[in-house]
Amino acid sequence: MGAVYDAQLAPFLNRILHGDCREVLKMLPDASIDLIITSPPYADQRKNVYGGVHPDHYVEWFLPISAELLRVLKPTGSFVLNIKERVVNGERHTYVLELIMAMRQQGWLWTEEYIWHKKNCYPGKWPNRFRDAWERLLHFTKQRQFKMFQEAVMVPMGEWRHGRLKKLGQNDLHRFNSRAGSGFGKRVANWIGREYAYPTNVLHMATECYNRYHAATFPVELPAWFIKLFTEPGDVVLDPFMGSGTTAVACVRLDRRYIGIEIMEEYVRLAEERIAKEQPQPNLYTFAEGRADYEPK
Ligand SMILES: C[S@@+](CC[C@H](N)C(=O)[O-])C[C@H]1O[C@@H](n2cnc3c(N)ncnc32)[C@H](O)[C@@H]1O
Repeated sequence: MGAVYDAQLAPFLNRILHGDCREVLKMLPDASIDLIITSPPYADQRKNVYGGVHPDHYVEWFLPISAELLRVLKPTGSFVLNIKERVVNGERHTYVLELIMAMRQQGWLWTEEYIWHKKNCYPGKWPNRFRDAWERLLHFTKQRQFKMFQEAVMVPMGEWRHGRLKKLGQNDLHRFNSRAGSGFGKRVANWIGREYAYPTNVLHMATECYNRYHAATFPVELPAWFIKLFTEPGDVVLDPFMGSGTTAVACVRLDRRYIGIEIMEEYVRLAEERIAKEQPQPNLYTFAEGRADYEPK
């Protein structure tokens, strides 16, 4: 980041800005943010909980915000949107799908979709569906080339390799293309002797309720995973719906700089208290942190 951006961003860095992100975002300089990760208020038909938005108006409410996010994100940056459609009148509402289409029209690339599998969700019984145990993490970018550090989120290979990799068949020794003609292929022998593998796009993490004063927090490991994947130490991470400060906590632990925006003053205080308790040491580093495989073109 150049000196100009540093000077323009300095007043906002490592702070939770109290206000409506629809206004506060306008103050941030163009192309200055490396990663945006956020969980906006849920679409809600009930009266405002903390500014819940009616499902029928969700897209028109969000589009001016995503336009600002597009402006402030660097060309090599990523936007990760945690969202899940609600059930309205007995069926899933389509506002998330409509939002994806509208954001593509706005200029975003819908690069990937990650699934957060909530390992510890409450049991329940509904007449026409099962309990909801996952949420979307929509990954948007501005261009096909973006910062990504896959080694930073590698996972241990697991015990399966001791059996499977000992008994290799002919199809495992060379690249074996799928018989279904899908174009997918793999060479299983590539994994001999390796301790770590790349993860899938399904993240298995338990929900966390940090504080009884904020009901809709995500676990620290969720933003931490994307922060490691899409940024380097010192980069700037924005959460325009900061809530209890989870994204900021992950940034402090990972030595990234954060900018938070939160409309409710009590949540700003809650987030600040939480951040103050953090030791500024990178205790979420993985073995591979810092081994970049991204080369800007
Ligand atoms: C789902 S919660 C985010 C929770 C957060 N990820 C955490 O772990 O604590 C959404 C937050 O957005 C805030 N909010 C709602 N409308 C807002 C707006 N227009 N500008 C800024 N914050 C807003 C709410 O007060 C709420 O704290």
